[in-house]
Amino acid sequence: MQLCIALDLPTKEENLALVSKVKNYDVWLKVGLRTYIRDGEEFLKALKTINPNFKIFLDLKLYDIPNTMADAAESIMGLGVDMFNIHASAGKRAMQTVMQRLEKYEKRPLVLAVTALTSFSEDEFRDVYEADIATKANQFAQDAKEAGLDGVVCSAYESLAIKNITNENFMTLTPGIRPFGEDAGDQKRVADVAFAQEQKVDFIVVGRPIYQAQDPAKVVEKILAQL
Ligand code: C5P
Repeated sequence: MQLCIALDLPTKEENLALVSKVKNYDVWLKVGLRTYIRDGEEFLKALKTINPNFKIFLDLKLYDIPNTMADAAESIMGLGVDMFNIHASAGKRAMQTVMQRLEKYEKRPLVLAVTALTSFSEDEFRDVYEADIATKANQFAQDAKEAGLDGVVCSAYESLAIKNITNENFMTLTPGIRPFGEDAGDQKRVADVAFAQEQKVDFIVVGRPIYQAQDPAKVVEKILAQL
């Protein structure tokens, strides 16, 4: 299991200061919408300058018509990131179109599909998708697998079932991790590191419990010691 730190701080300077504190650890860095919209490609380059071995996950959750998603995916290819994601609910054809567009590249980033956002409660999810989270997450994962993606974003609660219906190598990445039972914030389906491990999660995403800590490096070290 690998640790992915969410760089969700309000300014570029704060994010870079956080990254400098964890530069000696073998971790992934997650760049989300706010940071990418504001700081762009330059920020991605700055991360690799701090440590070229950092792996970057560009968390933009693409959702649009198939051709527009494939165009965006192709632009992402030029950024040199190691992983990015798209929404499974954009549909299987959209996922297939993205993967087909990337076929011509010898090396491409990992592509994951977002199933159910971890901030959804069952009721909130049902309002949008008219299904329960577990059933729909499994179906989205199956679609993503058939479309040729590398894995899905889901909560730790769906990881094992998804592995069972796809296969062990189909990756799961789970946000909503509260490594040692910290405050959940707006997340609804949270889990700790030990639970994520039991559920065979490949990547845990941790944001607030690291960047809001007095000593982020210490928290990272404590998490890595458990993996
Ligand atoms: O601070 P926290 O650990 O809750 O951060 C979780 C991160 O994972 C945030 O950047 C959030 O946008 C992202 N995320 C999520 N749920 C998903 C997909 C991404 O919480 N399903």
